[in-house]
Amino acid sequence: MVERQTSGFDEFIGEVRRIVSGTSDPVAQASQVSEKLQGLLRSGKGWMEGRLQIPADQQVGEYELWRDPELGFLFLVHVLRPQHISPVHNHGSHWVVYGVIENQILQQRYRRLDDGSREGYADLAAAGQDHQKEGNATFFSPLEAHSTSNPTDQRAVIVRITQVDLSRVRRHRFVPSEKQAIEFAGGR
Ligand SMILES: [Fe+2]
Repeated sequence: MVERQTSGFDEFIGEVRRIVSGTSDPVAQASQVSEKLQGLLRSGKGWMEGRLQIPADQQVGEYELWRDPELGFLFLVHVLRPQHISPVHNHGSHWVVYGVIENQILQQRYRRLDDGSREGYADLAAAGQDHQKEGNATFFSPLEAHSTSNPTDQRAVIVRITQVDLSRVRRHRFVPSEKQAIEFAGGR
């Protein structure tokens, strides 16, 4: 039985609770949580002890480390296989913070050019790329679209703090070359 450290992770959860309770502005929440996550990731890996053990040869996986009983946010860890690339998607009207524990990822951001009023249609323009290295965190605002990829030949391990459990939210995937928006639910 491994003793859980009381610092680091617990402090971070406390900070997220204070941030989410302290402002109703979703972008302010996301940017502050992102800054705190970066602090946690750069403090070393002690916060993982007793909470997260990923076998060295594991290439894909998902772990839920926290589900806040009052505020509803989740702390998730994902293992992304080499050359993984996600569909372009948003997180509905919720923010998500992404941080890198191991290796690196690319985040392709998109800007929406249409007003979203036409069912099944979305005009998206590529809007810059974040190259997230180990210890780096960033966030996506409500309705912002992106694709996450692992461009390397090694697995990547990332943290996602989602404002809510996204498996319960109807949101969209996109095919930018076809100007297509596909509603879906499920998946975190
Ligand atoms: Fe995402």
